[in-house]
Amino acid sequence: MRKIVIAGNWKMFKTQAESKEFLQGFLPHLEETPETREVLLCPPFTGLSVLSKYLHGSRVQLGAQNLHWEEFGAYTGEISGPMLSEIGVRYVIVGHSERRQYFGETDATVNLRLRAAQRHGLMPILCVGETKQQRDAGETESLIINQLDKDLVDIDQENLVIAYEPIWAIGTGDTCEATEANRVIGLIRSKLGNPNVSIQYGGSVKPNNIDEIMAQPEIDGVLVGGASLEPESFARLVNYQEL
Ligand code: PGA
Repeated sequence: MRKIVIAGNWKMFKTQAESKEFLQGFLPHLEETPETREVLLCPPFTGLSVLSKYLHGSRVQLGAQNLHWEEFGAYTGEISGPMLSEIGVRYVIVGHSERRQYFGETDATVNLRLRAAQRHGLMPILCVGETKQQRDAGETESLIINQLDKDLVDIDQENLVIAYEPIWAIGTGDTCEATEANRVIGLIRSKLGNPNVSIQYGGSVKPNNIDEIMAQPEIDGVLVGGASLEPESFARLVNYQEL
């Protein structure tokens, strides 16, 4: 069964105090949320333990934004799978386009990080997607297939979420048409060995487009940046209306 996963990626936003304040506004809205929807928050590393404490007993799952492939070692600035699972983290975003673009992440390192996540019992969310230039050049399909081929080597598709995030739609307000996101996600699904992998859409998901996005048959959830930072707007996404 494909699970619906609504995830907030806070990127480098929110101190611990701000995280607590967010939860006070957000958690009461979950009373209206159907049980079938998995709700997930991915704060910066410093927010993980405070969220872990305050989310204890709630249905919101905790996700990290990255992990290293080794268990420990001399890797300044990195964090490992056992460190995340110890504090109750269940999901981890891997290969976000901002990691690929600004921090030298390659398909080879994405693959290592995916394997490490699975080794340590974390559910990875693999991000793939094309730039505007690649889309305009008609390379969207080949680029994504190439990313999947390289990123998914020896990955267990029973424990995997994928997010299709066209880079030109991230943080720009320039959302991909819901039907086009549906088409690309259908293509991604056709390349997988397991048809039950949940595949999210990400890129300028907002309260005013969530219902249309979630009405698409191939789309199993959303990965949200900006609109996950305010309790009211993230609540509207989590409580999207079925059309
Ligand atoms: P956005 O970010 O919702 O702010 O466009 C999405 C993402 O980067 O996952």
